[in-house]
Amino acid sequence: MTTTPPAALSGPRSQFDVYADDALLDPWPGYRELRDAGPVVHLDRYGMYAATRYDTVDHILRSPEAFPSGEGVMMNDEMNTVLRGNTLCSDGAAHDASRRIVIRPLRPPALRPLQDRIRAEAVQVVDRTVGRRVDAVTEIAQHLPVTVVSNLVGLPEEGRERMLVWASEMFSCFGPMNDRTRRSFGVLGEMMEYATTQAVPGRLKPGSWAEAVYDAAARGEVEADKCPVMMIDYMGPSLDTTIFAVSSAIWLFAHHPDQWDAVREDTSLIPSAINEVLRLEAPIQDFSRSVATDHEIDGVVLPAGSRVITFYGAANRDERHYPDPDRFDVRRNPTDHLGFGAGPHQCVGMNLARLEMRALLEALAARVTRFEVHHEERALHNILRGFTRLEVTAHT
Ligand code: HEM
Repeated sequence: MTTTPPAALSGPRSQFDVYADDALLDPWPGYRELRDAGPVVHLDRYGMYAATRYDTVDHILRSPEAFPSGEGVMMNDEMNTVLRGNTLCSDGAAHDASRRIVIRPLRPPALRPLQDRIRAEAVQVVDRTVGRRVDAVTEIAQHLPVTVVSNLVGLPEEGRERMLVWASEMFSCFGPMNDRTRRSFGVLGEMMEYATTQAVPGRLKPGSWAEAVYDAAARGEVEADKCPVMMIDYMGPSLDTTIFAVSSAIWLFAHHPDQWDAVREDTSLIPSAINEVLRLEAPIQDFSRSVATDHEIDGVVLPAGSRVITFYGAANRDERHYPDPDRFDVRRNPTDHLGFGAGPHQCVGMNLARLEMRALLEALAARVTRFEVHHEERALHNILRGFTRLEVTAHT
C-alpha cells in the first residue's frame, strides 16, 4: 500500500481510498494499514495526510496553534468556506466567544432539569417498541433527538422537520469533493438559506437555545453576523450523531449478548458501556485540520499549508493504545476515547448525548433480555458511521 515518497514529500504515502464505498462500510482493515504505515501518511488520491494513530490524533487535536480549525475542518475547500466562523471552524478568542455561548445550555447544571423528562420519554419509547419488530433507527434512536433536542434548539416550526435531512447531508459535505459530497451540496444550500432567513429573532421559540445565541449577540458577546453560522452549531451536530450512536449501541449489544447480560446485571456499567460504544463505533469518523507551519511528527514533516485528516474512528482502535482494540468490552471504560474529539474543540454536546444514551440504555436494560436483528443497512456516508435501517425485536 505504501510507496517511497518523492523528495518533496517526507514520510509514507498511500493510494488507499478511505472514502470508497467498501472502505466506508468496513474501514477497520484500511485504518490498520494506515496506522502501521506511519504516524501520518500522505493520501495521494486526496492530497491530504491521514492521522490514524491514537497519540498522533490526540496531539493534533490538542495543538491548535500548529493545527488550527479556522481554515475549516472539512475535507473540501467549498465547505470550509461555507462554515467559516462557526464554533467548529474558528480559533483563539473568536472560538472562545462563540463556544462560551453555544455550550451554555449544554453544561451539566443546565441539563439537570431535563433529566427526568428525558428519562420518562425513554421509558415510553421502550414501552412502545419492546416485543415488536421495529426499525431501531426511526422508532428508538430518533425519538429523543427529534422530540426533545430539536424543541430545545427551538427553530421555527416550519422547516424543523427538515433538520434530520439537513444534518445528515451537511455531514456528507464534510468529505472530500466526491459524488456523495456533490449530491449533498444542494440540500446544504437549503439549510444555509433557512439558517439565514428563517432561524432569526422573532421566529425562534422563546427561551430556546437558538434564541439565546441572538440574545448573546445583542449583549455584544459575539458579532451579530456570526449568528446564522452559529445556528449550524446546533442544527448540524445535535441529532444524527446521537441517533447513530444509539443505533450502533443496539447493534453491538445484539451481536454481543454476553455484554448485554453484563449491563443488565449491573446497570452501573452503562456509562462505561457508552464510552465503549463511542470508542468502537465513533459516530463521527473524521474531521481535519490545516497545518499552520511545518510540523514534525515522529520523523515525518507535515508541510505548512497542507491538511491532515484526524481519524477519530481509527485512533479509537489503535492497538498501540487499547489492548485488543476490536473487542467490545463494556467493562473497559475508555474515558479517553476520541469519539467526542479532544482539546479546545471537544464536543460541547457530549453531556447531552451521554444523557440521552444513558436514559435509553437504562430503560432498555429494565425490560429487554435480547435484541434480535432481522435486517440492517449501514449508512454509506462520508463522515458518519451508523445505520439508516436496523430492524430488530427487543425481546422481554
Ligand atoms: C454521540 C453524539 C456526538 C458525537 C459523537 C459528537 C462528536 C463531536 C466531535 C468529534 C467534535 C469535535 C470536532 C473537532 O475536533 O473539530 C464535536 C464538536 C462539536 N459538537 Fe458534537 N458530537 C455529538 C453530539 C453533539 C450534540 C448533541 C451537540 C449539540 C447539541 C453537539 C455539538 C457540537 C458542537 C457545537 C461542536 C463544536 C465544538 C467546538 O468547536 O468548540 N454535538 N462533536
